[in-house]
This record gives sequence, C-alpha cells and structure tokens, in this order.
Amino acid sequence: MTVIVLICGLPGVGKSSLASRLAPLINAVILSTDHIRKELFKKPKYTRKEKALVYDVLILVARFLYEAGVNCVLDATFNSERSRSEVKTKLRLNNECIRIIECICPEEIVLDRLKHRRQGYSDADASIYFKMKKYSEPIIDEHITVDSCNISKLDMGRLINYLVKR
Ligand SMILES: Nc1ncnc2c1ncn2[C@@H]1O[C@H](COP(=O)(O)OP(=O)(O)OP(=O)(O)O)[C@@H](O)[C@H]1O
Ligand SMILES: [Mg+2]
Repeated sequence: MTVIVLICGLPGVGKSSLASRLAPLINAVILSTDHIRKELFKKPKYTRKEKALVYDVLILVARFLYEAGVNCVLDATFNSERSRSEVKTKLRLNNECIRIIECICPEEIVLDRLKHRRQGYSDADASIYFKMKKYSEPIIDEHITVDSCNISKLDMGRLINYLVKR
C-alpha cells in the first residue's frame, strides 16, 4: 500500500532529521515545505499567500507521487488541527493511506539545537519556536509519537511496521 507520512512538530524537534532517516527505509520521497519554499522564493517573507503556495505545491507533488505508487514523507510543521485536516482534504485520500508521526523533543534541547544549528533550509529560531508553540494543537487523529532525543533507541522496525504494514 502506498502511504503518505505526515511528520508534525515544532521547529527544531528533529522532523527533517527523522525524515532523512526514515525515507530510505520505506522507499519514500521527502517533500519538505522549507525546501519547497526556498526553491520558490529566494527571500521568503512567510506571508499567508506565500505559505498557501508552498502547501499547494507540496500537496500537488504528493498527490502526483501517490498516483505513481511512490511513498512520500511530508516534512512540515502541521501544528494546527486545521493545517492537518486541510492537507488531508486537499490530498483527496482516505485516512487509510495517511500516517501521522508526531516528533517531539524536550524544550531545553530544542532551544540548544536551534542555537547551534548550521544554515539550512529552515529559518526557524527560538522566537519562531515559541510563536508556533502558542498556536500548536494536540493531534486528535491516530498517530505515533517519536522523541528525537531517543532516536538511537528508537525501534525503527516497529515504526516501519506501523507506517507500511498495516
Ligand atoms: N536525534 C538527534 N540528536 C542530535 N541532534 C539532532 C537530532 N535530531 C536533530 N538534531 C539536530 O537538531 C537540529 C534541528 O533538527 P531538525 O532540523 O531535524 O529539526 P526540524 O524539526 O526539521 O526543524 P525545522 O522545523 O526548523 O525544520 C539540527 O541541527 C539537527 O542536526
Ligand atoms: Mg526541518
């Protein structure tokens, strides 16, 4: 079964790191909003319009890959219930094909990571982390939670089982 995996979580919790580790294990393509944004806009302004275009491109490509039978890992914040339900509605797929991973990490570690992170696709810093934290909502739908602090101890077999062998 072809699956689309949503990796949700606040900035710096380790979503992109988890996506890179996971994707090759399930033959998935990673689609990252941070990456798409930097391809579309040299100097992003994070306006509502810009964000809408980034997510539309993400969804369009994910849908295209899904039709071609390619698994996708969507690396985006998805911190509100609306953002998650919107992506599911726009993908026009039933819940069967969608898996949700909540990526978490203790706050003091996230803040330290954000301080020392090398230049990459993400522009998020501590202030963005706290801003997003205010608006983040608990995930209602079935999901699996991964603590990126314990990633070396993470049972990848169990995670893969949950994602592709249901
Ligand atoms: N398990 C880990 N152990 C040590 N460092 C980690 C781990 N996971 C991620 N990091 C580091 O923490 C920083 C943030 O991780 P990452 O970029 O994956 O987070 P993110 O959730 O994708 O953030 P953003 O939302 O800003 O894209 C990076 O510098 C990364 O190398
Ligand atoms: Mg990232």
